[in-house]
Amino acid sequence: MSGYELKLRVWRGDRDGGDLADYTVDVSEGEVVLDALHRLQATQTGDLAIRWNCKAGKCGSCSAEINGRPRLLCMTRLSDFEPTETITVTPMRAFPVIRDLVTDVSFNYEKAKELPGVELGPRDADGKRRMAQVDIERGQEFRKCIECFLCQDTCHVVRDHEDNKPAFAGPRFFLRYAELDMHPLDTADRRARAQGAAGLGMCNITKCCTEVCPEGIKITDNAIIPMKERVVDRKYDPLVWLGNKIGLRSKDYDGRTEV
Ligand code: SF4
Ligand code: SF4
Ligand code: FES
Repeated sequence: MSGYELKLRVWRGDRDGGDLADYTVDVSEGEVVLDALHRLQATQTGDLAIRWNCKAGKCGSCSAEINGRPRLLCMTRLSDFEPTETITVTPMRAFPVIRDLVTDVSFNYEKAKELPGVELGPRDADGKRRMAQVDIERGQEFRKCIECFLCQDTCHVVRDHEDNKPAFAGPRFFLRYAELDMHPLDTADRRARAQGAAGLGMCNITKCCTEVCPEGIKITDNAIIPMKERVVDRKYDPLVWLGNKIGLRSKDYDGRTEV
């Protein structure tokens, strides 16, 4: 395996500010950006802060921006770039920096807490609950989410607009709203909450979130747009939704009761 010297430009700093710093690090063909940063850390900058765990694209913790694009450090191959190119690595812009490439993503956990969880209806007579594979297929795609929050980082509604954050849950959570709304055994109606408190109406379906999702989830087409349609059904024709769920759902997080 042949090696070369990679030019890396890395944001160094903390909550009080920082700047880009230039480094040259030895790398090998086939490595990923996280390998280069680890070698940099091991040989030149022992105090470089990077968050990572699995190095397999599954824990969602190594999210950062590479040449300005939100990406996982462990899934971005050096071979995606010319060997002579300088690779610039910066922390996710939508979240406050803790140090270097590590950001404080607690905004997302706060939004998760605001989202009412699954509420199952009564069990069958034999004490079991049943659902058919065909009924869970749509929601299953959304369960691939690794909570990397790259979609949240790229969404223009909050990326440069801190003031929008209180009113906007973001694509990762629209995904969750859609997943629960499509859940065959869930009894709650979160559509008014999705539109109101979670700010679904602020999304103008630019699809930027879908473009950066490392799991390839079609966030906009398969979750956000159907969720927007379901919200409209509720506003203008509640019978459309009731037709699917009649007798099952009763709780409405907008304070109204539909069945
Ligand atoms: S489609 Fe909506 S949620 Fe996704 S990035 Fe665009 S505005 Fe944000
Ligand atoms: S939907 Fe995709 S981009 Fe968003 S948090 Fe989940 S895995 Fe990451
Ligand atoms: S280290 Fe787990 S997704 Fe990159």
